[in-house]
Amino acid sequence: MPTAVPYHRESDSESDSGSEGPEAPSHDYAHRDDSPDSVQELDPIEFPDYFLEHNGRLFHSSLTAPYPLPVDTPEQERLNALNTLVKHMIGARYTTEGPVPQILAQEPDKRKQALDICHGTGKWVMEMAENFPHVLFTGVDIVPIATRYPLPNVTFEVGDIIEEFRWSDSAFDFVHARDIALSVRDYRTILPDVARVLRSGGVFFSGEWELKARHQLDSRQPAGGAFDDPCPLSRRFFQVVNAALESRGILTDVSHISGYLHDTGDFHHIQSSSMFIPVGGWHDDPRLADLGAKLLFVQTRFADSIKPLLRQMGNSEDFIERLTSDFVNEIGSVVGIVAAFHYVYAIRM
Ligand SMILES: C[S@@+](CC[C@H](N)C(=O)[O-])C[C@H]1O[C@@H](n2cnc3c(N)ncnc32)[C@H](O)[C@@H]1O
Repeated sequence: MPTAVPYHRESDSESDSGSEGPEAPSHDYAHRDDSPDSVQELDPIEFPDYFLEHNGRLFHSSLTAPYPLPVDTPEQERLNALNTLVKHMIGARYTTEGPVPQILAQEPDKRKQALDICHGTGKWVMEMAENFPHVLFTGVDIVPIATRYPLPNVTFEVGDIIEEFRWSDSAFDFVHARDIALSVRDYRTILPDVARVLRSGGVFFSGEWELKARHQLDSRQPAGGAFDDPCPLSRRFFQVVNAALESRGILTDVSHISGYLHDTGDFHHIQSSSMFIPVGGWHDDPRLADLGAKLLFVQTRFADSIKPLLRQMGNSEDFIERLTSDFVNEIGSVVGIVAAFHYVYAIRM
């Protein structure tokens, strides 16, 4: 696979019947000074090379990337739902509060640049590009599943983040990485490249969902004491999922990313936070109940998307069906289950 392939098309708007409608904006990429000769524009005819079909689901075709989830329409719907969910959770922190709007603020004689690693369907990039039209956004993903008609200040590329990033040192003011933990075996391996492509004073944002079932009463249980677990089937589900991911070499604990950033010695002002979101619409607060309903959809879809990995690990169809349907029934009926989203901001030294 070429290192990086922009897959927007400047000249095929009339002949191309992409799913995002007939209107393709015109582009001017002449200002990009970070486009080495190795970058080629991807002809849509080549798109199938990036996908592999197995048992009715579509995956990336890389032989080396460990990412285990499908990348097809049901999974893209899950990613879009997650994007909406996170926007409701921390949207203002992307656009009006904290270090991100500050670092992306317009400055005379300076073209700001932002990179989204593992952009997925590209919704976040497109929304940010609309909010910050003076900033150039680049998204990179192992499959071309974002719109082929991005805004003029957006480039989507195909590339593998396990390989060395193609961008030059200090190329970006902001690097965003959300829900990428299953895309790499060890999160720490991408941090030298993240640090390298960020300019001094630039911002790195990491946001990851924990693969773990929690209950709001967990902290009230006596340590070491026996208790009636309100969500044993969800805990069992995540235990099996984590074991499967680990046997594929993927480290799944996302609670240490701020520590990893600290260990690089390349960042300062590392601020980490966690949000606990209800799973299901059980919360009294209508806003949290709404977020919970969205998260219930996302986790139900996840149960379906993780089945291929569980099959690859040699589990029987009966076992997988029981494990996933028990999980889905439990999160859809038990009051008090929550999921954690850990996020970190760090400033490049
Ligand atoms: C869980 S999705 C998250 C997408 C997006 N960041 C979001 O928050 O909506 C993970 C994405 O990583 C991509 N991916 C997986 N392995 C990758 C790799 N080695 N290099 C680049 N992208 C990868 C997948 O194709 C998928 O789109």
